[in-house]
Amino acid sequence: MKLIDSKTYKNLAKAYAGECQARTRYRFLHYAATQQGYKAIANIIKEIILQEFHHARMLYTFIQTASDEPIANINISSGYPFRQKWDFLENFKFSAQDENLEATKIYPEYAKIAQEEGFKDIAGLFNNLAQVESCHQSIFEQIYAQLSDGSLYKKPNKVKWKCLDCGYEAESKQAWKQCPLCQAEQGAVAIKIQQD
Ligand SMILES: [Fe+2]
Ligand SMILES: [Fe+2]
Repeated sequence: MKLIDSKTYKNLAKAYAGECQARTRYRFLHYAATQQGYKAIANIIKEIILQEFHHARMLYTFIQTASDEPIANINISSGYPFRQKWDFLENFKFSAQDENLEATKIYPEYAKIAQEEGFKDIAGLFNNLAQVESCHQSIFEQIYAQLSDGSLYKKPNKVKWKCLDCGYEAESKQAWKQCPLCQAEQGAVAIKIQQD
């Protein structure tokens, strides 16, 4: 089967649209985090934005292998999330849910179809994407949880905090409101996120 005649071809285009939209939604979130002074959170989101860009880039690259001629148009019909209002906290929850859908349903399904249609490399791409989206889900969930319960900069035991602006470090249960060295606001203190 030729890629251009396959379901996988359409799935690549759908996934590409999804990645581009995710990237833009996280750009909204990054904008809000920056506006509200959550510099450390903004840094984490910035990394995810770049990762979604590379996901889109790889999907686009595979689409281009379908034809030597320029591809004028690909017609797709698919649903994409538009739930986010401008609620900073809620948007982390929605983002985690969107990532979960990609990681557990959409990409595994696309990988299965690609495998059945004989596109092993593309199946591999979808499986690899699923793995990263699951990490994104975990990061968004952790940020949501810590923002919700007030534990972002307050822990039950002493931990080491670090200012992302000047590198100052100190151990305490609660992060400083203003960095004692450079006077950066609390949002510049590196947050505690488990990344595996
Ligand atoms: Fe992605
Ligand atoms: Fe993602």
